[in-house]
Amino acid sequence: MAERLAASAATLRASAAATPFARRAAPANRAFFSPSLARARVGLRAAPSSLPQKARAVRCAAVAMASDAAQVKAAREDIRELLRTTHSHPILVRLGWHDAGTYDKNIEEWPQRGGANGSLRFDVELKHGANAGLINALKLIQPIKDKYPSITYADLFQLASATAIEEAGGPKIPMKYGRVDVTGPEQCPPEGKLPDAGPSSPADHLREVFYRMGLNDKEIVALSGAHTLGRSRPERSGWGKPETKYTVCSYLLYKNGPGAPGGQSWTVEWLRFDNSYFKDIKEKRDQDLLVLPTDAALFEDPKFKVISDDQLYDVGIL
Ligand code: HEM
Repeated sequence: MAERLAASAATLRASAAATPFARRAAPANRAFFSPSLARARVGLRAAPSSLPQKARAVRCAAVAMASDAAQVKAAREDIRELLRTTHSHPILVRLGWHDAGTYDKNIEEWPQRGGANGSLRFDVELKHGANAGLINALKLIQPIKDKYPSITYADLFQLASATAIEEAGGPKIPMKYGRVDVTGPEQCPPEGKLPDAGPSSPADHLREVFYRMGLNDKEIVALSGAHTLGRSRPERSGWGKPETKYTVCSYLLYKNGPGAPGGQSWTVEWLRFDNSYFKDIKEKRDQDLLVLPTDAALFEDPKFKVISDDQLYDVGIL
């Protein structure tokens, strides 16, 4: 029974992790599900595979109106293979989230309202403090973008994120495609739209940032559960230990894991998508596991706590 509930909670968390942004970004995206605009796919130039400045500038001019369904299917297979060989599940999930998490429901105009629009491919946004290290995710995904030019970056980032969750043992997430890419760095969102891990009042901060995206308390708790995957690295975000017993390269489980060894994970098996994030934060027993102030808030703020305890951790409903 406990197993079933845990799986159910994980499923629901994953659905929230992958879909709200897609759902909410869609109305802002004027080409979403519009057959006429989809047919009017314009001048997408094949992007180069490396990421030097000049090459990125060429890609900035690329405009895509909709992703081709057959290419999406084929790209999913390539992403699966990428995951099998690089174990890059966490950073691909983070890539999708950081492209989407700039969304502002209060702004009518696209692309000013942000969201999943591929803007994270541009240097100006990759250089935002919150995006430190995500250039590595873009480098991983760029060859797939080059191979399937009719898939927008916006769709590809979300496809990669959802596929990574699925391949890490999470649920198969129902997805829709048709997100439109912004065309230039001037269309990137300003810095500061994503949550800060150590604000003075973490619960208030989480509500301020996630309510702006149109999400509610349950969705905040659910989405935070994505930290069941991955690590924090002090040299990137400033958070976490340089290494722990779970992240040193000799660690048996992931000795061939993604990227360089080190960093601090939230969970013991940080390439497995499950419910352990909630259990580990609640128990706070292992100094080698990370709890950011915003993670702790989920069990300290009375309203979040009810959800973390009763609805996700114990009951698994969302
Ligand atoms: C609730 C507010 C959040 C804060 C303050 C936060 C903060 C952070 C920080 C500081 C890191 C470490 C980055 C590094 O040093 O490389 C991180 C990693 C990560 N975050 Fe979050 N995050 C939040 C929400 C989310 C959400 C909603 C998702 C996905 C739905 C997510 C997915 C991830 C993943 C998968 C990693 C690991 C990346 C890796 O191992 O390369 N986070 N986050």
